[in-house]
Amino acid sequence: IAKLPNIDPDALSITKTTTPKELLPPEELVFGRTFTDHMLSIEWTASEGWLRPRITPYQNLSLDPATCVFHYAFEAFEGMKAYKSPNGDLRLFRPDRNMRRFNRSVERIALPTFDGKALTELISRFVRMEERFVPSSRGYSLYLRPTLIGTQRTLGVGPPGSALLYLIASPVGPYYPTGFKAISLAATSNAVRAWPGGVGDRKLGANYAPCIVPQLEAAKRGYHQNLWLFGEEEIVTEAGTMNFFVCLREKGTGKKMMWTAPLDGTILEGVIRESVLELARENLGPEGWEVEEKNYTMRDLAEAADEGRLIEAFGTGTAAVVSPVRKINWRGRDVDCGLKAGEEVGEVTNRMKGWIEGIQYGDVEHRWSVKL
Ligand code: COI
Repeated sequence: IAKLPNIDPDALSITKTTTPKELLPPEELVFGRTFTDHMLSIEWTASEGWLRPRITPYQNLSLDPATCVFHYAFEAFEGMKAYKSPNGDLRLFRPDRNMRRFNRSVERIALPTFDGKALTELISRFVRMEERFVPSSRGYSLYLRPTLIGTQRTLGVGPPGSALLYLIASPVGPYYPTGFKAISLAATSNAVRAWPGGVGDRKLGANYAPCIVPQLEAAKRGYHQNLWLFGEEEIVTEAGTMNFFVCLREKGTGKKMMWTAPLDGTILEGVIRESVLELARENLGPEGWEVEEKNYTMRDLAEAADEGRLIEAFGTGTAAVVSPVRKINWRGRDVDCGLKAGEEVGEVTNRMKGWIEGIQYGDVEHRWSVKL
């Protein structure tokens, strides 16, 4: 069989906008509401493979109402950010991880895989072109949303014969409207996010829409996001749009522990999650911390809180970075996650956030930070 073309960055065509947008001041940015001047698009067909990449002005898509993405959710996406360092360098954070996960997501829904290095090269060119939209203040960045959809016009349920990969970008600040402050979570007891053998570890749009009702229920109770539990034992899995970590002292021994749920196929394989684990093992390990990927329950957390052993909790994600958590509502009570009154971030959470951002913004040279 003849090998079909993969994505070819050198075939890129560029059409620039004639109506450049005005930039918003950073404090007016709302997550994912405003976009840059351009978009990157690459079409694919089953018979021709990946076609020529194009950068064009940001524009509407025109799709037939019968297009399979609208009916059977042939959609996968990534979340990445581009950062501007104080000396003006543009950087990506571990793009290889996003490319690997994107390919794992798309292959699960019968969309075409692609050469991740070639897409990263195109993303880099795109970001350089949109440089003026990359905010330079700490905590601000250009959020990148690579997306792949099935575009075949059919109501038949089968593998799409055509697809469109596109990239849009949105200048962003903090994910939560409350800014860089501690958030509160409400445990969801009447729904489950993912199950073994399902698709909870793939970044599919179809994983997100069913989260909104539990999210609204959490908001109605006065909390920022919901926390997903699993099974009768109420195992703590992840929060609405973040992986979840806790820091606590072990019962009896008083040993310092950091826990997050293991990658058992139900957890989104967060790039920040992986990075936090690695940095914690490297930097906190020598201080006596034991860092573990393990199953633990809401009851374990409540008990630790009651006994004064729960030190801190935080969420991680590309959008949320490292977000401190103040409390978790569970079974009609608030489990206090260890922040003192008036405190917005705990010491470990703050150090984690500092280490991650220091790499992302290029304060320190690190193999995870890719200079464009
Ligand atoms: C991200 O952290 O990039 C996410 O995907 C979370 C959300 C904005 C969907």
